[in-house]
Amino acid sequence: MSTDTDTPGGDADTAARSLAHWSEAGRAEMEAFYALATEDYRQLALAADWPTVLRAVTHDGWRVLDVACGSGKFPTALDRYTDLSALPEASYDLLDPSTFSIAEARAQLRPPFSAAREFAVTLQELPADAGPYDVVWATHALYALPPAELAQGAEQFVRALRPGGLGFVAQATAQSHYLAFYDAFRAGVRDRTPYTSAEQVADALRAAGGDVRTQTVEYTSGTADRAVAEGFLQRCAFDDAVSLDQMEAAPVLGDYLAGCRDASGAYTFQHEVMLIWL
Ligand SMILES: C[S@@+](CC[C@H](N)C(=O)[O-])C[C@H]1O[C@@H](n2cnc3c(N)ncnc32)[C@H](O)[C@@H]1O
Repeated sequence: MSTDTDTPGGDADTAARSLAHWSEAGRAEMEAFYALATEDYRQLALAADWPTVLRAVTHDGWRVLDVACGSGKFPTALDRYTDLSALPEASYDLLDPSTFSIAEARAQLRPPFSAAREFAVTLQELPADAGPYDVVWATHALYALPPAELAQGAEQFVRALRPGGLGFVAQATAQSHYLAFYDAFRAGVRDRTPYTSAEQVADALRAAGGDVRTQTVEYTSGTADRAVAEGFLQRCAFDDAVSLDQMEAAPVLGDYLAGCRDASGAYTFQHEVMLIWL
């Protein structure tokens, strides 16, 4: 096993790797990832009666903050799998430290969401004049937020929400694929800062004063195509320098991946996602 600081070029840690990969240079890797990960957002769109949930907090001029907007897969899934046409237009603010992500998400927005302010910062750095919002959500968004900065991020999330507003975080649990895979990758390939889990996010939001309710959603995703599996897993690690063959041969990670393969070699990944409602 090596560490990122001893790889050629002195690769940086998880948060910096995330930022580097959410870029135009990382587009092909991102698209390979979403060959499987689009399922994550279909699951979220189907997990709640979104027209009813949102109607309870909307009014003329309502405002949404999308924290770590990425490439806009959540609003895209809402547009595809739900019908929000009865809701009034919303000012939709986009927050992400990656300007690439903000531009991608902005291009995906459809009514009732209308792109408004952009914040090219981390959640921890949310400006004091942002909000209050009727809705703040962060979907599969906070993995690369360093655990040591989570309390600060959670305080900003809770502060951004108006009294009676709706907060929603979707994040994989510690035993779910994204976290289990990265722990095995860190143990067997390269040590890095771990991903932040749903349990940690829920605890931090409670500590920040959030009135938190949780539920979990379980599902699988998978493929028999090794190229698709490789692209997905490389993005899970923000590391396209490690091939699927190398991952399968690595200590710890190889055992984890063997448990995800059937006799034919096809991959199935087990997901457990916590929906955190405030
Ligand atoms: C998987 S994407 C999020 C997906 C997005 N919610 C969607 O609907 O498509 C993760 C995003 O988190 C951003 N990010 C990483 N660390 C962050 C932080 N500390 N605060 C806010 N965003 C962060 C990354 O730049 C990336 O765009």
